[in-house]
Parts: sequence; structure tokens; C-alpha cells
Amino acid sequence: MKNTAPRKVEHQQTDRGYVPVYATGVVEQPWANYSKTEHEVWDTLFQRQRELLPGRACKEFMQGVERFGLGDGGIPKFSELNQVLKAATQWEIVAVEGLLPDEVFFDHLANRRFHDMFGHVPLLLNPVFADYMQAYGRGGMKAFKIGREALMNLTRLYWYTVEFGLMNSDEGLRIYGAGIVSSKGESIYSLDSPSPNRIGFDIERVMSTRYRIDTYQQTYFVIENFEQLFDATRPDFTPIYAKLHELPAHAAGDVLDDDRVFTRGDRVGWANGADT
Ligand code: PHE
Ligand code: CO
Repeated sequence: MKNTAPRKVEHQQTDRGYVPVYATGVVEQPWANYSKTEHEVWDTLFQRQRELLPGRACKEFMQGVERFGLGDGGIPKFSELNQVLKAATQWEIVAVEGLLPDEVFFDHLANRRFHDMFGHVPLLLNPVFADYMQAYGRGGMKAFKIGREALMNLTRLYWYTVEFGLMNSDEGLRIYGAGIVSSKGESIYSLDSPSPNRIGFDIERVMSTRYRIDTYQQTYFVIENFEQLFDATRPDFTPIYAKLHELPAHAAGDVLDDDRVFTRGDRVGWANGADT
């Protein structure tokens, strides 16, 4: 069962829209099958972000990139990355065939297994962030059992932290979200553009805020550090899910009276369509 094309299982309506769901098995990384062009594409994209991210990505991310020795030519071998990663935080990178159903994804996280490279893996070397990701996986399994709405609340937390989070570091505002660090355009936009809101992280606020999947974010939430994030997510979310069930969700670009506003976006260029 090695190196076969992903097998599409079905289409499924998810919070990211209508997407194909693929076979769920872990596969061997097909490293020997990558073409010269694929390695060159990796190198081009990697080099571009490597030059752009110093002074933009948080120091924990930059330290992770350096520790892995990434960028020494071609698509990295997971087996080599795993020697560093397992020794540091007991995480492991595995290859999978496609987009996983939620519960399979949570199970991987809960067992410290990840499968998405550039943006995510450097931070898995950070012990606090590594623990947060595992806790998130366990929380995901729990929310999955509670129901669709709880899962949506929790997915927003992932979106606004793991994928699109900013950090108010000692050196200034920095990126830690994987969806930002892997994008040249959003690495610049998220920090420099006057368009989006940048609002202090608050767990209930984040879990009740819709998001954009088709444009840059209208709002970024800013944590102080990973300890704050980890502490805020420590309590049992069950009562929070129940409370949020009674309240309307906020639009992606809303600014509320209680918000700690770092910057209020000028909304220039915002799309009009509905957010997720
Ligand atoms: N504390 C959360 C719960 O009770 C679990 C969780 C931890 C979720 C960390 C996300 C991140 O469900
Ligand atoms: Co991602």
C-alpha cells in the first residue's frame, strides 16, 4: 500500500465548505518519487519565506527552522526531521494521503502526530506549543462527541491560533500562525496592512468569531505568549460551549466594545461575501 494515489472516499460538508475526504491511512513518505521540479519548487518557496520571516515570525518559529536545519536543498525527509522532533518533544511527522476527517485528525494530534510541513513543524519543537497541540487534539475528540456547534467553536480556536495567530512579543508584533508563515502575501499583510483588525486574544471571543477561508483574515487575534494560550485553554470547555450556544456568532470583521484593540482595521479591500 505504498505510493498509490490518494483514494477519494466521499464528499463532505465541513466548516471549510464542501470538500473531498480521502482515505485515512498513514503512508510512507514517497520521498524517492519526488521529481527534480518538486524539489526545486520546495526550495524556491522555502527560500522566499526564509528571507522574509526574520523580524516577522516569532523567535520560537525561527529557532525551530534553524534547529531542523531546513533549507539545505530539496524536500526534507520526514525520517530525518523526526530524529530531531522526537528527541525534543516526542512529536512525529507522518505522511497521509489527503485531507483527513476531523476525528482522525484529532486522534493524530492527541497522539502527537502531525502531517503538514513548513508552517507547523518548526513550532512543534517548542515544548509549550507542542503540549497545546496535543491538548487541542484531545479537546477535539471531546467536542466531536458533543456535537457540530462545539466542534465549530473549537475549529475557530484552531483557525485563529494555530493557523492565523499573532504574538505580542518583547520585540513587537510577530507571526506564529502556520497559515501566515507559509504565505508570502499574508506574512506581509498580517503585520503591515492597515486593513485588518488586530485584537487581544480572548478564548470566548475567538470561539464565537467566524472566519474567512477565501481571503486574508479580517481579524487577527494576538496572544502574549504560548503560556497564556495554554493556560486559557486549560479549563473544561463544556460550559463554554453551552454558553456560546445561546449567543450569536460575531462576523469576521466585527470589533466589540470589550475588545482589547491593537489596531482597528480600515476595512479597505474587504470582501463582502459571508464568512464561515
Ligand atoms: N480544555 C479543552 C476542553 O475542555 C481542551 C482543549 C485544550 C482544547 C487545548 C483546545 C486546546 O475541551
Ligand atoms: Co495548516
